[in-house]
Amino acid sequence: MQIVLVGYMGSGKSVVGQALAIRLQLPFLDLDDYIEQEVGKDIPEIFRQKGEIFFRKKEHEFLREVLDSKDDLVLSAGGGTPCYSGNMDLLLNTTPNVFYLQMSVPALTARLIGEKDHRPMISHLRPEDLQEYIGKHLFERRPFYSRAHHSIPCEGKSVEEIVAAIAGKLV
Ligand code: S3P
Repeated sequence: MQIVLVGYMGSGKSVVGQALAIRLQLPFLDLDDYIEQEVGKDIPEIFRQKGEIFFRKKEHEFLREVLDSKDDLVLSAGGGTPCYSGNMDLLLNTTPNVFYLQMSVPALTARLIGEKDHRPMISHLRPEDLQEYIGKHLFERRPFYSRAHHSIPCEGKSVEEIVAAIAGKLV
């Protein structure tokens, strides 16, 4: 069984993915961690030294590699993964268990404001501009995320509640 979590940065993909993997006794893989390991640099360094296009190529290549392995796993995608290189089609054609972790713009902003400096997509923004940026960016990305088999509203829910909601929909 391959289970994939997608959603905007800060939507809880890694935390929820880890808890879900423990509950289901499946291996957990964070695509960003895998990219960092394989490239030998952290994500901000990759963006800084090689640029976003290089990152998106690697993201696609490693996503394909992980899915092709056919190993059972819970996979947390990166926030941009579904939006490039036909990755969402690849995900949807590989497994019936793709979940979008849905959160509102204000909730995402509140989570990301303290972490913005480690995230290359938003590190250049002034804190007061973050909410407007996330609003526009999510508007562009939502059509990709919404193609997931299930959208899980995560606002105000505990990790355990979100895990239970996902577990109840697995096929
Ligand atoms: C990105 C999200 C990040 C990471 C990279 C680009 C994006 O993943 O892949 O910084 O384009 O939204 P997380 O959503 O896991 O932070």
